[in-house]
Amino acid sequence: EAALEAIEEKKRGGRLPEGLIRTVVEGYTAGEIPDYQMSALLMAIFIRGMDYGETLALTRAMAESGERYSFPECVDKHSTGGIGDKISLTSLPVVAACGAPVAKLSGRGLGYTGGTVDKLEAIPGFTCALDRERFERQVREIGLAIVEAGELAPADRAIYALRDATGTVDSLPLIGSSIVSKKAATGAGHLLYDVKCGSGAFMHTLEEARGLADLLVRLSTSLGIRAAALITEMDQPLGSAIGNSLEVREALRFLRGERVAGDLDALAREIAVRLLQLKGVEEPERQVEEAISSGAAYEKFREFVRAQSGDDRALEHLEVSDEITEVCAPAGGYLRRAEAIKLGRAALALGAGREKKGDEVDPAVGLEVCAKVGDRVEAGQTLALIYGARNLRRAAELAEDAFEIAPEPVEPIPAILGSVW
Ligand code: URA
Repeated sequence: EAALEAIEEKKRGGRLPEGLIRTVVEGYTAGEIPDYQMSALLMAIFIRGMDYGETLALTRAMAESGERYSFPECVDKHSTGGIGDKISLTSLPVVAACGAPVAKLSGRGLGYTGGTVDKLEAIPGFTCALDRERFERQVREIGLAIVEAGELAPADRAIYALRDATGTVDSLPLIGSSIVSKKAATGAGHLLYDVKCGSGAFMHTLEEARGLADLLVRLSTSLGIRAAALITEMDQPLGSAIGNSLEVREALRFLRGERVAGDLDALAREIAVRLLQLKGVEEPERQVEEAISSGAAYEKFREFVRAQSGDDRALEHLEVSDEITEVCAPAGGYLRRAEAIKLGRAALALGAGREKKGDEVDPAVGLEVCAKVGDRVEAGQTLALIYGARNLRRAAELAEDAFEIAPEPVEPIPAILGSVW
């Protein structure tokens, strides 16, 4: 029987043939292979690993486990998950306004990391539950559509839930096949991965991040997708806002050409430029600048919001909590640390994310971080604003603990740490 055969082979460190991998993935998705066998196999893979050929076979089988779309002319991006990461909200309207169509798959928040679907749902009426016909029409007519997984790569959804419950998430072949299978099923022909690196990310070291970036690009290329990756900083949150309405508000500032934190401004522009480069667009920097300064990117975002049933008139006054608490610098000096994971946990405690599956998300809560690593700070200066009152004591403790001030000057952290191009 296939599942047992695969477990026996992998537990001894053997290699799984492509046909066996496919049979197991199909059997599990169809409910014919029980969770206990799949769990045992995932743990064997976690411990023994998979070579590139096996990982590609797993990716392909998961990509083909449900519906498959095809948008060879479109671009998509994927972040491996961070805190305050509103790059999809900022870069993609810019790229679409430059004439590169976007067909994107997005997810919800996972633990203390945010998800684009939750952020967009902070806009009244907004939905990512588009059926195939509506998604295709919107890509054609507006050049920007974001859909939730739905019927795409159902094997990944089932396997991911099992991994989450069996301690088998942090395995390179399992992460790589999970991410790339969903993206391949969505079908965009040009794909940029934003692999986050640092204490607030899955990948803590540059070496680990590079390993994942290489694998994502290689798997995508093998599946006929033009792909590249950036490795970007996630020791401190990206930009200022953490939390759903607050992040949409910050993204709107960027799209209107207003001043935002330097790391967000730099990365949002860089990702837009790189996506245009993947499409072979000439003079991408100039196009990106024009899309922002002319208001075209902002208008594209509004058009996209209306198309996905959102109220674009509500964008200028999204609800944020009026219960605001300041976190102040205990001493003067230079900001050495603004630890993303602690600030992400503070946002989670306030209700910005889900502690467990099925929890309600409160779009109005979160934090605004007012200083970046390397900034000079005065004693008593505001380091962060906390929006919301749920678990306020814990959120405030986490936020206070996230900051460290040094007496001597501190180097700012670069937003981009490397690339696979
Ligand atoms: N994100 C995914 O989609 N899958 C993983 O396995 C990890 C992060």
